[in-house]
Amino acid sequence: MSLIIDGKKIALQIKDELRAAVADLKKHHNTVPGLAVILVGNNPASKVYVSMKEKACAEIGVYSEKHLIGEDSSTEELIGLIETLNKSEKIHGILVQLPLPGHMESKKVIESVSLSKDVDCFHPYNVGRLLTGEPVISPCTPAGIQELLLKSGINPEGQHVVILGRSNIVGKPLFAMLCQKSKGANATVTLCHSRTNDIKKITSAADILIAAIGKPNFVKADMVKNDSVVIDVGTNRISDKASEKGYKIVGDVDFEDVKGKVRAISPVPGGVGPMTIAMLMKNTVNACVSRIKATGRKQQ
Ligand SMILES: NC(=O)c1ccc[n+]([C@@H]2O[C@H](COP(=O)([O-])OP(=O)(O)OC[C@H]3O[C@@H](n4cnc5c(N)ncnc54)[C@H](OP(=O)(O)O)[C@@H]3O)[C@@H](O)[C@H]2O)c1
Repeated sequence: MSLIIDGKKIALQIKDELRAAVADLKKHHNTVPGLAVILVGNNPASKVYVSMKEKACAEIGVYSEKHLIGEDSSTEELIGLIETLNKSEKIHGILVQLPLPGHMESKKVIESVSLSKDVDCFHPYNVGRLLTGEPVISPCTPAGIQELLLKSGINPEGQHVVILGRSNIVGKPLFAMLCQKSKGANATVTLCHSRTNDIKKITSAADILIAAIGKPNFVKADMVKNDSVVIDVGTNRISDKASEKGYKIVGDVDFEDVKGKVRAISPVPGGVGPMTIAMLMKNTVNACVSRIKATGRKQQ
């Protein structure tokens, strides 16, 4: 029987610990961690992600602000808002929900977020620190995947990890994290993408396979090794007439086909998704703690 890795349950445990940490910060430092979430336009999936993040803040006692910006706004207007939030005492983390509308300069926007409030770890300086093994902050989805593995008793050390997808949000930072000479990492990592030759040969050699390509049910049983571990990051909407919404969410892995062959597998939904949000909360609380240390705010 394969272990079905329960990301929802692990995320709940992390949020419980964070709720206690938030209460402690309030009691001893009279400070409440704060997260600002910026949503540009009306992308339905982005709206869902933003409301999930607001809900998580409320659950653990983090102050949250939602800023809705019109689809036609300029890059300068958005950066103006970020600069105001960079200075705000109430805000410790700033998240700009991606993707931004095509006319906006995402790179400029990402680089305008204060380094200490970059809770997504998208700023090139923070990405560089991650690569050199001196992270100030860890990116939410890759950190969530690493935590999911470790909390399920699966240590990547010495293992051959194959990652499908080389995005700046998942594949590349995850590669950087898992190849570090550090606890919970020390893996031999192979990064695959759309130009990789003979993907099946590579995935079949993986001790741990992590799929992040955005292709519904791409990974089949004949692509994985017996008794390996499979982590599915994919979050794909496919049409489903039986569902009230008219669609359902599936991963990049054909769960039903693969689950009988592997030692452990994370489902979609209920795997990596909840962990990403838990890590965002953790980064926001940690950013608040760092600010308290930096400003030397006295214990009350
Ligand atoms: N659960 C969560 O918290 C979470 C967070 C982030 C993303 N996601 C999901 O994860 C998936 C990936 O998102 P992303 O933003 O990381 O990716 P992305 O920016 O869409 O990039 C996709 C990557 O997959 C590669 N790729 C596409 N088709 C491929 C194929 N047939 N074989 C091998 N590689 C292929 C692409 O290669 P090239 O570089 O060569 O084009 C690219 O590197 C999406 O479903 C997304 O919704 C989930």
